[in-house]
Amino acid sequence: MISDPLLLFHISDLHFGLEDRAALAWCKAEITRRQPAAVAITGDLTMRARHREYEAANRWINSLDAPVTVEVGNHDLPYFNLVERFTDPYRRFAAIESKLEREIDLPGLAIVPLKTVRRWQPRWPWSNGWITPPALAQTLAAIDAVPADRKVIVTCHHPLVEHDPSGKHLTVGGTHALEQLAKRGVLAVLSGHVHDAFDLVHDSADGPVRMIGAGTLSQRVRSTPPSFNELIWDGRALTVKVRNLEHVPTPAMQIGAVPENALPPRQPGEPVAPVDAVPAVDPPVH
Ligand SMILES: [Fe+2]
Ligand SMILES: [Fe+2]
Repeated sequence: MISDPLLLFHISDLHFGLEDRAALAWCKAEITRRQPAAVAITGDLTMRARHREYEAANRWINSLDAPVTVEVGNHDLPYFNLVERFTDPYRRFAAIESKLEREIDLPGLAIVPLKTVRRWQPRWPWSNGWITPPALAQTLAAIDAVPADRKVIVTCHHPLVEHDPSGKHLTVGGTHALEQLAKRGVLAVLSGHVHDAFDLVHDSADGPVRMIGAGTLSQRVRSTPPSFNELIWDGRALTVKVRNLEHVPTPAMQIGAVPENALPPRQPGEPVAPVDAVPAVDPPVH
């Protein structure tokens, strides 16, 4: 059991190329000021995986004054260069290689990565999540190797929800992964991808799993202003605060269900946070 509460920052979907510079500068300043024990970045660092976008993302990540672990998002595999996508998809991450899909061990807590992106999928769109058996096996082996006196937080890009309320297939393999994580009593699964924050409990066949989503620090907002999550683990409870520059309270920033991606404008029935700041359109990508 730990003696002092642990502070973690969970940030996601920076989307350099359409980044929100004011939000990123504020988040970086908060990392310097608050000195979290770790920063978990749950993917989509870039917009179109262009070299200049990676350079900016890598520079920002390497400038953070804290231990960092980074997940790969669906926007982060080469988009225009299919040869590189299939032969060397992580080449553009070289400058942050030591932080990529890295386990972080803290007093009383381990952060363990889970890969949910693939170079290709036998379905469309490739942007949705897919957990391959080897990827899950690697994560489960890492969890099983964590000493019994430490809790585990899993980090990934896609929420592990397998079907949306309409039955549409989202993250392939998500149900099985959630069952395996429930069996192991993980504290929470942190993810990004949907650009709105959430804090939900999934009741798997093997017990409940807490799923925590972070919003975006980009201009591609969904129903909430740019935000990141501040997590505090005191050895008994994990609390989540959704930090944002507009000081919207946490409950008003969180959606009550996981959408596929919910591009604006929202269709009736799609999850919208109480603050309901849905833009008419996404900014154009150049
Ligand atoms: Fe994203
Ligand atoms: Fe994504």
